[in-house]
Amino acid sequence: MHYIRFLKPPRLLGGRRGNAPSVLKAKVTVTTDLGESFLWANVDLVVELTDGTGKRVLERGKGYTWKGSEGMRSLEVELFIPAFRGKESGGMLRMLVRPKEDFLAVENSERILGDSNEHEDTGKMGCVMAVRSMAIEIPSNQSLPISTTTSMAERTFRFGKSEIHIWEETGESIARHIWYACTTQNTHRDAGLLLSAYLASISDPSSQKASPQFPSLQRTLFQKDLKIIELGAGCGIVGITLSTFFEKQISQILLTDLPEASEILAQNLSPLSLSSPSPNTSNSNPPKISHQVLDWSSPLPQNISETKWDMVVVADCTYNPDVVPDLVRTLARLGEASAGMLVLLAMKVRHDSEMVFFELMVQGGFVVLEKCKMALPVLGGGGGGGGEDIEVFVFAVG
Ligand SMILES: C[S@@+](CC[C@H](N)C(=O)[O-])C[C@H]1O[C@@H](n2cnc3c(N)ncnc32)[C@H](O)[C@@H]1O
Repeated sequence: MHYIRFLKPPRLLGGRRGNAPSVLKAKVTVTTDLGESFLWANVDLVVELTDGTGKRVLERGKGYTWKGSEGMRSLEVELFIPAFRGKESGGMLRMLVRPKEDFLAVENSERILGDSNEHEDTGKMGCVMAVRSMAIEIPSNQSLPISTTTSMAERTFRFGKSEIHIWEETGESIARHIWYACTTQNTHRDAGLLLSAYLASISDPSSQKASPQFPSLQRTLFQKDLKIIELGAGCGIVGITLSTFFEKQISQILLTDLPEASEILAQNLSPLSLSSPSPNTSNSNPPKISHQVLDWSSPLPQNISETKWDMVVVADCTYNPDVVPDLVRTLARLGEASAGMLVLLAMKVRHDSEMVFFELMVQGGFVVLEKCKMALPVLGGGGGGGGEDIEVFVFAVG
């Protein structure tokens, strides 16, 4: 999977004379989730101007081609904003950069899970994820030169009937992308996205699409009054997906990470970000979703150690063998007070050193109940090879 990212978020340059249009300029790149590898293939991109909600397209800008085959690493894009657009949209506009071809777009769970029937030829070829800037204020006096920058960008996923909105940091010092902190720690976040798409797909028990099956996981997820904790939640995509799609079953869901992730988690858990209608709209008692700092190298905070958790979720957190012992210790401490607790883990294995996690889990008394490999198609072969695998495990305390 590849991601369009703002290297330089859109800057508004004011029309200097009379009613000259303003222009939004940005610099984008297209990389793998880690950002360690640029897209090698050529892809046509479209830049669009939307209203402040991001939902209504106001202007279609000119097309661009990402020339990956020629070694392109960044691309400057711009959008002209007619003066009336600023007024019409209440002064707030956003830039959307997306692949031109719909079959390359990645925003729905069928595409992420690679089981789209619509495009049999293209469904398995990998995709490119669009990015939407923050809202940019267009001042009413267009003669002023303005330079406005923004520091976050949004990804939108359509899982079934619901949309999930996840903000991430943007700009050249990318620290908290959706795969928060992985750019320096050599890991990936495709696992969290694929796990989220899978969880959304099994939330409707009548749907025949969801494969593979995880009977223990599915049994647990359809119980009542579930308490779920996520470790290393990053931007929170998995926890937010769970709280959206298992709203009737979950009473409490706590997303935890290091203090550096608190700001982006707060943003993604804000009522505005979570406002997308849930598929289970009839629930008058939505799950209590919150975030808290939990460092695996520290003892569990009292409120966490005193709660009986039904499930722990861990996505893309096993890549650093140095912190894996702390992670497993944290899982064991959580399991001490929580008989019957399941651990749901998703990972993209890159190095043999990651296998130490499994040895430590066995020593910690965990057993694998269910496991499965899901294929992730990669456009242009990614960093080597035609695709990648995401592995999903369900553990129980033995
Ligand atoms: C690869 S990111 C995964 C983020 C998210 N689960 C996802 O799939 O998008 C790994 C996460 O583990 C967190 N992490 C690393 N070491 C940690 C520690 N000692 N305690 C708590 N969280 C930690 C990082 O801050 C980061 O958010």
